[in-house]
Amino acid sequence: MNVLVTGGAGYIGSHVCVELLEQGHNVTVFDNFSNSSRNVLERISQVAGKRPSLYEGDLRKAQNIGCAILTHKPDAVMHFAGLKAVGESVIKPLDYYETNVSGTVNMLKAMQAFNVNHLVFSSSATVYAPPTTPDDLPLTESSALGPVSPYGRSKLAVEHVLADYAAANPYASIAMLRYFNPIGAHPSGLIGEDPKGIPNNLLPYIAQVAVGKLPHLTLLGHGFDTPDGTGIRDYVHIMDLAEGHLAALDYLTAGFEGCFAMNLGTGQGHSVLEVIAAFERASGKTIPIVEGTPRPGDIAVCYADASKAQELLGWKATCTLADMCADAWRWQSRNPEGYGRRQ
Ligand code: NAD
Ligand code: UD1
Repeated sequence: MNVLVTGGAGYIGSHVCVELLEQGHNVTVFDNFSNSSRNVLERISQVAGKRPSLYEGDLRKAQNIGCAILTHKPDAVMHFAGLKAVGESVIKPLDYYETNVSGTVNMLKAMQAFNVNHLVFSSSATVYAPPTTPDDLPLTESSALGPVSPYGRSKLAVEHVLADYAAANPYASIAMLRYFNPIGAHPSGLIGEDPKGIPNNLLPYIAQVAVGKLPHLTLLGHGFDTPDGTGIRDYVHIMDLAEGHLAALDYLTAGFEGCFAMNLGTGQGHSVLEVIAAFERASGKTIPIVEGTPRPGDIAVCYADASKAQELLGWKATCTLADMCADAWRWQSRNPEGYGRRQ
């Protein structure tokens, strides 16, 4: 199949490109490199033995995404392009609605114009209302929705757009995958997560402390109602997540019409202290810790009910936290500066 991967140079998109290429698909990356490096394309081809095509463009420009779809005539689109920093979304909400929501509308119009029906969309567990009691967990696809940040609301807005679009278009075939906490890297150590500036999320932060780029990890709260007092999350290996996308694509192209939302997680939670200990074991490094205060809106516990993905797609995450840390460390230690200077 010809697959257009928007945001294919980013963290998740690059790993999915490798899986697509290895399964024999033709891949075109559509990206404006606003949060990624051009060097990733060479790395993808080193890992997969085949280079994706590139259409450099901006989703906010309808003509760019229209031309990409007209030129490459994809059978399916995997849509990762978007903005994802929660804190930034509070300061610049319009940028988030413009890229995430208007950008997706531009893409859907082009897909509709050129009869491209299959779409896999990167949604997020952040669309759920924060779980407040143990009865709220695990989060199932029918748990209450209620994102608390402009970023989360922009992802939920896209879900509404996609559901409405599918309701009006009988051939639309759309999977909205709600990721929990993707971490880790390709086991080759050639591609991985390369955040711009100081990382916002736990794993890349720990990895940069371990490699000596940052002095210590700040524990953002240790008074949560959890066994060790630190936040619990459902960390899922990026390669498991990538396989989930391929399973979703197979499901769509096997004849599914409509739109569905699905959790991609392991169904298991790990605390911050457990993650630190696992990373220390994987890297042989000590992670110095400084105690800080919780981020506004941070929750104690969040993990998925991942049974729908297993029932519908036959997909189940198999990697352990130790695998995730070992692969993240291989990537970080071999590429302390990530992909290098962004070009
Ligand atoms: P990323 O920032 O690494 O990748 C996004 C890519 O999109 C980048 O290559 C960036 O350059 C590109 N992009 C951004 N704006 C664009 C535009 N206007 N036009 C064209 N390209 C543009 O992020 P990621 O971690 O790979 O996340 C991918 C998707 O998954 C995002 O939509 C994000 O909201 C979603 N998601 C990520 C996580 C996570 O923890 N990483 C969790 C849940 C959902
Ligand atoms: C973040 C995003 C969320 C997104 C999710 C999945 C924020 C506010 N939320 O949430 O929208 O869906 O990732 O990618 O960014 N921690 C520390 N020190 C740090 C960083 C994190 O102690 O320097 C703790 C946090 O308090 C939390 C845990 O580590 O308990 C995980 O944090 P993080 O990786 O940011 O993930 P989420 O909180 O799930």
